[in-house]
Amino acid sequence: MPDKTYVIDELISAKAIAARIESLCRDIRREFRNTDKLVVVGLLRGSFIFIADLVRELDLPIEVDFLEASSYGDGMESSREVRILKDLRAAIEGRDVLVVEDIVDTGHTLNHVIALLKSRKPAHLRSIALLDKPSRREVDFRADWIGFEIPDEFVVGYGIDFAQRNRNLPYIGKVRFTE
Ligand code: IMP
Ligand code: MG
Repeated sequence: MPDKTYVIDELISAKAIAARIESLCRDIRREFRNTDKLVVVGLLRGSFIFIADLVRELDLPIEVDFLEASSYGDGMESSREVRILKDLRAAIEGRDVLVVEDIVDTGHTLNHVIALLKSRKPAHLRSIALLDKPSRREVDFRADWIGFEIPDEFVVGYGIDFAQRNRNLPYIGKVRFTE
């Protein structure tokens, strides 16, 4: 599939992403203003740029941790079975936790991860996704904060890949096949 030729059309500019993160962080800061030390959990690998920008804008005492769940493999199709490939280092019982995801698509991944983390009894558990494709949803799940709602397009950039490519684009673009 990645050998097919495609071009990337800009969908959300780097500037628009930065502005949106600023405004989301005003909200998140308010929600967690009394926290001792918020555990910010990035879902690998797609959230790595988003979480980096988010925590620098948050201005709260935080700890960063990562969790990796399997989802797409190397293609464009989501799998419904979610496996944890790398678990957290931190024990989250009694703690404030914010889960950071790149995209909510069918909803299976974040739904599964949130249920798992809930079972560990955090004091406060919230989730944020940079992008949301509500038209693709298969389970009833909504992140507490969403950067942008987007149509059913395959997107890349700002941490998000197509078969491990294009993660380092500074903006979000949509993939358009040319043949
Ligand atoms: P879900 O379990 O279907 O909600 O899938 C979520 C995961 O699928 C995200 O964390 C992404 O890694 C991946 N994904 C969903 N849509 C896209 C896309 O448009 N481009 C790249 N990855 C995507
Ligand atoms: Mg992902």
